[in-house]
Amino acid sequence: MKKITIAIDGFSSCGKSTMAKDLAHEIGYIYIDSGAMYRAVTLYSIENGIFQGNEIDTERLRKEIGNIHISFQLNPETGRPDTYLNGVNVEDKIRGIVVSSRVSPIAALGFVREAMVAQQQAMGNAKGIVMDGRDIGTTVFPDAELKIFVTATPEIRAQRRFDELKAKGQEASFDEILENVKQRDYIDQNREVSPLRKADDAFLLDNTNMTIPQQKEWLQEQFNKTV
Ligand code: C5P
Repeated sequence: MKKITIAIDGFSSCGKSTMAKDLAHEIGYIYIDSGAMYRAVTLYSIENGIFQGNEIDTERLRKEIGNIHISFQLNPETGRPDTYLNGVNVEDKIRGIVVSSRVSPIAALGFVREAMVAQQQAMGNAKGIVMDGRDIGTTVFPDAELKIFVTATPEIRAQRRFDELKAKGQEASFDEILENVKQRDYIDQNREVSPLRKADDAFLLDNTNMTIPQQKEWLQEQFNKTV
């Protein structure tokens, strides 16, 4: 069967990654979490003093962006890919609130996006890929054969993120997470470079009132109709 490219975009914490990972596993495609790449650049910036309080030293980041190598390796225990920053597994670190609250301004920088998009396009060269993010259907793979745009209310998204962090034993405050979700929505939709928006040819999925198995079934149906 011919392999295709699948782009899954949408708001933060709306379950895109879970859907994308499950579908990729089901159909034997590669899964790439593009958000993890922006999170890894953010972690690098925090750990290397590129953040001065909330200010970003953009000139330093511009000089160093070429030294930031991001890769993914399957974790045999979870069966999911872990994110590596310059050879170090940073999967847990990039998911916490410290990185979440700083990632959107980093992802709004044009030179950061250029570097990430080039890496993402190279990863998708051979097709047979499911990539999730904000600009996959609009900028990274505008010719993707299947595009999905996922949304849900900010409250339900914050609740899901809260439950996820708690399950991992990480400290979390619902109000802080809700604030972060809303703030990221705003920055992602209003940035100049590749703002978050639904591609004209993407299918819309509002999963506010859907269970994970329902979403999985819906996505599998869209895939079956496309190939
Ligand atoms: O998907 P996730 O929430 O992990 O992404 C983290 C952040 O990275 C988003 O809030 C957004 O600012 C940025 N991002 C982006 N473009 C993508 C993926 C993520 O700007 N393709």
